[in-house]
Amino acid sequence: MSHVLAAVAWPYANGPRHIGHVSGFGVPSDVFSRYMRMAGHDVLMVSGTDEHGTPIQVQADNEGVTPRELADRYNRVIVEDLAGLGLSYDLFTRTTTRNHYAVVQDVFEGLHRNGYIVAKTTLGAISPSTGRTLPDRYIEGTCPICGYDGARGDQCDNCGNQLDPVDLVNPRSKINGETPQFVETEHFFLDLPALAEALGRWLDTREGWRPNVLRFSKNLLDDLQPRAITRDLEWGVPIPLEGWRDRADKRIYVWFDAVIGYLSASIEWARRSGDPDAWRRWWAADAEGKDARGYYFMGKDNIVFHSVIWPALLLGYSGEGDRDGDPGDLGRLNLPTEVVSSEYLTMEGRKFSSSRRVVIYVRDFLARYDADALRYFIAAAGPESNDTDFTWAEFLRRNNDELVAGWGNLVNRSISMAAKNFGAIPPVDPAGLTDADRALLDTVRAAFATVGDLISKHRQKAAIAEAMRAVAEANKYLSDQTPWKLKGEDEKPRMGTILHVALQAVSDLNTLLTPFLPHSAQKVHEQLGGTGVHAPMPQIVEVEDLDGGPAYPVLTGDYSVGARWESVPVEVGRPLAPPKPVFRKLDPSIVDEELERLGA
Ligand code: MF3
Ligand code: ZN
Repeated sequence: MSHVLAAVAWPYANGPRHIGHVSGFGVPSDVFSRYMRMAGHDVLMVSGTDEHGTPIQVQADNEGVTPRELADRYNRVIVEDLAGLGLSYDLFTRTTTRNHYAVVQDVFEGLHRNGYIVAKTTLGAISPSTGRTLPDRYIEGTCPICGYDGARGDQCDNCGNQLDPVDLVNPRSKINGETPQFVETEHFFLDLPALAEALGRWLDTREGWRPNVLRFSKNLLDDLQPRAITRDLEWGVPIPLEGWRDRADKRIYVWFDAVIGYLSASIEWARRSGDPDAWRRWWAADAEGKDARGYYFMGKDNIVFHSVIWPALLLGYSGEGDRDGDPGDLGRLNLPTEVVSSEYLTMEGRKFSSSRRVVIYVRDFLARYDADALRYFIAAAGPESNDTDFTWAEFLRRNNDELVAGWGNLVNRSISMAAKNFGAIPPVDPAGLTDADRALLDTVRAAFATVGDLISKHRQKAAIAEAMRAVAEANKYLSDQTPWKLKGEDEKPRMGTILHVALQAVSDLNTLLTPFLPHSAQKVHEQLGGTGVHAPMPQIVEVEDLDGGPAYPVLTGDYSVGARWESVPVEVGRPLAPPKPVFRKLDPSIVDEELERLGA
């Protein structure tokens, strides 16, 4: 057993999240966390809504509300959506808590004390017509590195490099097309060059990362520049230094505060658990957290922040860059074990876009379909290591042909035949098991090792394919054995044996599918006569801010209960009732209906 941190990217609270978002950070991190808990690890899964910076400010302006009102609104929407998907966060919080502010400021101060944060005067963009600061991502132009014309002031989506708006060729405002004016402004910079060597040493020791993620991350080290970590903005965490703390016009950059959320959320979780130091078991780089591993889940546009910026902050805070230094108040901290980045999900061949309405929000999806149907699609056909297209036709096919006709059918016919003929789980008859019986049981039992190993290596597509291959074996077993034909009195013991074997396979397969399909796994568990919690679910709890700020909803849960990752013998004689279908077959007409909704 070891301590496993599942650090899940923080969704911006500037709108409802769509299925592209949750296919990148949401479902994969939950499948992993559920599996690791079932396998006996001590998992801490944390995240929250990302509520600062220009993404929030700009949307608040659009909607005519304050950033705080906007964040409150979408924090709640996102919490409800993630709960609906059954994502088992130990704590899903937000970046506007007082605890978060305090931890962010502590990390900033620690880095500053160690000399890794330096002040510089630079050129900032303002809009000539309004006189207001123009946020980086609202400036567009030609990338100075690759020549791509749609580069943003903060980043080029074509070559992936981080940019500064002054470097853009032909810069223009995305808001009104005007050419920004650049004026002098003072900001704090993270001295990345002073951390480059330590970063390189750390990256060189990384194993098991997706090769493109590691390659991309190493390439970023070749040209590290000091990076601005404050902004001319009123909305954000104040800069915790004399002469800056009370300035209303300067705030810490949203990405600096958001990545620290992994740490602050862990601390908040510990404080709420009654053992305020408990977070150290996942974070402390000393004996206490030595066995801990940290896995970070996100979409590929977030890689640089998790494989370079966040590790740089942790190194500098721990006093481990070129300038050395002393660890801050929280002590030396663990760096990520692995950055698990997924690729993009597109929608009917197009990029998701809320403004162009190429989108399906989680909320709308869950109003019409089951959470596990979406979870199945994402696990089986999501953008794990390639960009992948979501189409309604493929969703329908996966749901009807695989989930319903494969797994659902196996569950349903096994339990209903046993319920009808025996009213309970039948025993193995004295003649014992045949080779075919044993072969099926062995196949299913062997899948615990293969499926578990694949999930632990973030190969969830292969993992669910293995589990579904075992489902197909079980269906074939039933078709070969034809228990429904064994109607005679003398044949009934053999029928009982076959159904016993089938129910054992269903029970084990249900355990194997639990990380992927937790809602239906609970139902199958109950249809097999089981009681109690098989797959624990997150709860929405309204909490007080620990340090006197406003109350807010969090996602949390008790995940110490639930099935273990092992084969459990079914209990002979346990009563069975005729089952209801666990999965819903969808009518093919949904494809046209949904395409019409998309306006296609
Ligand atoms: N809000 C960012 C996005 O949606 C992700 C932040 S992840 C964190 O792209 F690391 F900063 F927390
Ligand atoms: Zn570029």
